[in-house]
Amino acid sequence: MSTGRFTPEALPGGSQTAARRDGPLPRALVAVVSNLVEQYSGLSLGGVHGRGLEQGIRRRIQATGTAGIREYLALLQSHQTDELQRLIEAVTNPETTFFRNRAHFRSLREVVLPSLAVTDAPVCLWSAGCSTGEEPYSLAIACLDAGLTHGGRPVSILATDISRLALDAARRGEYSERRLQHLPPSLRARYFERRGERWRVRDEVRALVTFLRHNLIEPDLPAPAGTVDVLFCQNVLIYFRPELVGRIAARLATALRDGGYLYPGFSETAWYRVPTLESVRLGDCFLYRKVPAAADREAPAVEPEPRPPIRRPDSAALPRAVTLPSPPAPRAGDALAEAERAVAAEPLSSEAWERLGLLCRQARRTGEAESAFRRLLYLRPDSPLAHFHLGALFRETGRAAEARREYAKAERLLRALPPGAPLGGVTAGLLLDACRRALSQTGE
Ligand SMILES: C[S@@+](CC[C@H](N)C(=O)[O-])C[C@H]1O[C@@H](n2cnc3c(N)ncnc32)[C@H](O)[C@@H]1O
Repeated sequence: MSTGRFTPEALPGGSQTAARRDGPLPRALVAVVSNLVEQYSGLSLGGVHGRGLEQGIRRRIQATGTAGIREYLALLQSHQTDELQRLIEAVTNPETTFFRNRAHFRSLREVVLPSLAVTDAPVCLWSAGCSTGEEPYSLAIACLDAGLTHGGRPVSILATDISRLALDAARRGEYSERRLQHLPPSLRARYFERRGERWRVRDEVRALVTFLRHNLIEPDLPAPAGTVDVLFCQNVLIYFRPELVGRIAARLATALRDGGYLYPGFSETAWYRVPTLESVRLGDCFLYRKVPAAADREAPAVEPEPRPPIRRPDSAALPRAVTLPSPPAPRAGDALAEAERAVAAEPLSSEAWERLGLLCRQARRTGEAESAFRRLLYLRPDSPLAHFHLGALFRETGRAAEARREYAKAERLLRALPPGAPLGGVTAGLLLDACRRALSQTGE
């Protein structure tokens, strides 16, 4: 069985020689494996992701020395090994980077962290789906930079992922030069030290971060309810079915304290429809804020799922429940009015139309959202983002054929861009992935 060292660079695309050598695997058997993966992790790997699943299966067949997919399936179903866990590790996408979305970190620096600094209460941030550690370390660096640890205030970053391999790499906290290329030189100098060819996160940063294995579809949370000030759950739920996303978002909301913030990934903005979360805008980004407890009681119960409970981490490592004053944040309605004023003042600003479209979409003002995104398209006919937003809007309003058309146009435009090209806070590669997933899920 392969237990090779996993580094952030060793993406699951790794050794695919075997995958390329043979013909296609029987679809019916791949579908059975896909179901097992989904039941275990929530990852829906049909459609375009099916190829990644097939490659993962082939690599695991090779690593386990099984004779083929039938024997491998029997191994998976035998429950006598943790092979399903290993398969998940082989097929999940660990792509991540330090300070991935600049707008998110700006809003943390300028609004959220200063608001937490006004009391001495402990602070807890949670990176759910932390992959190889870049996201939680970025959060820790942001806290240190904001002076949040001054005066001995406890600051903890809880970092969880389903993949033990990714967590092992995260705990090592060593990254190649390439992984740090987007990091401002001042942060690199202050928070990293050279280790031969690699850069190691300094102890001061590491001391704030606790890594734990946690599967987001498990019913238990790795932090007590109402204790998390800031929760990043980015680019994980994009691989889950929408009905599951709603349930998980509702559960994540219970971990947040009142007024705490949930940062979804860029392409997940406007996905969560959870009564305990209100959408707010902070600077250039759209996020969710936990509404106060009264509304909490009205929220429908989160559906229980037949999963075994996970072991809770050492409670000493977790923060006490805290009640902090909510920072001032524009509510969705205020933000909408502001966005309307912005397009009136600058009718040729594509950013202003995009923002208005997103806010209208969140407020379920579908017609206005469509007009705003069409205006964006008029101003920037080659913008994959405009097609993507329109596709998402059509998809959630049941206009599947139109949604497919827009996603397909976005996909075409994105294919012509380098995967790392920045696009409004995400990379072209990430958006391409989201388009392909949406295309497979809106399939005819
Ligand atoms: C693309 S990475 C995202 C990393 C980081 N959040 C970011 O946005 O840069 C997705 C991560 O989600 C993890 N993941 C997938 N399914 C999960 C689950 N059911 N529970 C917890 N983590 C999961 C994967 O192992 C992977 O490390």
